[in-house]
Amino acid sequence: MRALAEARTNIALVKYWGKCDPQWNLPAVPSLSLTLDGLTTRTEVWLDRQWTADSLIVNDVALHGAPLERASRHLDRVLGPTRPRARVTSWNSFPTASGLASSASAFAALTVAAAAAGGLHLDAERLSILARQGSGSAARSILGGIVVLGVGTPGQPDSARATQLCAPEDWPALRLVLGIVSEEPKDTPSTDGMNHTAMTSPYYGPWLAAAPGDLRQAVEAVKKRDLEALGTVAERSALRMHASALAADPAVVYLRGATVEGLHAIRALRAAGVPAWFTCDAGPHPKALTDARYVAQVAAALARVDGVRRTLSAAPGAGARLLEEAP
Ligand code: DP6
Repeated sequence: MRALAEARTNIALVKYWGKCDPQWNLPAVPSLSLTLDGLTTRTEVWLDRQWTADSLIVNDVALHGAPLERASRHLDRVLGPTRPRARVTSWNSFPTASGLASSASAFAALTVAAAAAGGLHLDAERLSILARQGSGSAARSILGGIVVLGVGTPGQPDSARATQLCAPEDWPALRLVLGIVSEEPKDTPSTDGMNHTAMTSPYYGPWLAAAPGDLRQAVEAVKKRDLEALGTVAERSALRMHASALAADPAVVYLRGATVEGLHAIRALRAAGVPAWFTCDAGPHPKALTDARYVAQVAAALARVDGVRRTLSAAPGAGARLLEEAP
C-alpha cells in the first residue's frame, strides 16, 4: 500500500515550550498557531512486507541514524509494532537550507500518509493526537488557519489535541512575514531546548503560570479578528519563551544579532503606524505578524536588517490532506 499526503508548516503565536509528560509528548502549556500557505511538505509512505528495514529520503537525500529512527518510531505509533517496513520519501516546497524545515509539517504529513497507507481512516482529532506524539507542533499542522493545541494531562496520551479556531478563509488578510537569516548556526533542537529550560531555568515556573492567560487573550483576539490584540500577545509570548530559555543554566540562546535587530525594526515600524508584531522560534529568523496591506513595508524593513538574506510572506494555509492512495 502506498499513500501521498501534504501538510503545511505553522508558526505559533502563543508558544508551546515545555512538556508535562515527555513519554507521551504532552505539552505543559497551551499554544495557538497559524498554518502557513506555501510552506509545504509532501510525504509518500510505501509499505511492503518483503522489506526488512525502513528507509527515509528527504529532498533526494537518504537519511540514517536519529532522523530515520524518529520516523520509524512514528510509523510504529501510527501502524502498530507488527507493521510492514516502509519507504518514506519527503519533499519540502521551501529550501531546507533556509532553516525553515520544520518537524511540524514533516510529522503531520507523515502521520496522514502512514495512516492511509496502512488502510486506517482516522479523523482529524485522532491524526492530531498521533502527530503530536511525533512532534508537538505537528498536531497543529493537521488543521488549517488558526489552531489551538490544548495542554496535556500527564499519563493520558489522548489529552492534548488540536482544534481549529478560525479557517483560512475566515481571516484571509492575515500574513506572516519571515526574515531568513543568512548565517545558520547549529541550533539546539527545540525538544532539547525546552527540556533543558524546564529542568534548569528559574523562569520556567513563571512562563508556565503566564501561558494560560496568553492563550485566553489570543483566543478572544482571534474571535474578534483583532490584529492588534493578537499581535500584542504573540510578541509577548515569543519574548517570554525566549526569556525562560535565556535564564536556563547554561543559557539556551536562539537569538542572533539579526533576530534582535529584526525585533527593533518591527517595533520601529509599529511606532510609525504600521501594524506588525514580532515573533521568533527555536532559531534565529525574525518573523512578523501583519496584514496583507502592509506586507511590502514589513518585508522591506526586515530585508534591511543586517544578516537577513531574504524574506518570505505567507497567508493562512489549509490543513494536512491526503493526495493519493494506491494499493
Ligand atoms: C519554539 O514541536 O519542535 O517552535 O514536541 O519536542 O518535537 P517537540 O517540539 P516542537 O517545538 C516547537 C517549539 C516552538 C514553539 C511552537 O511551535 O509552539
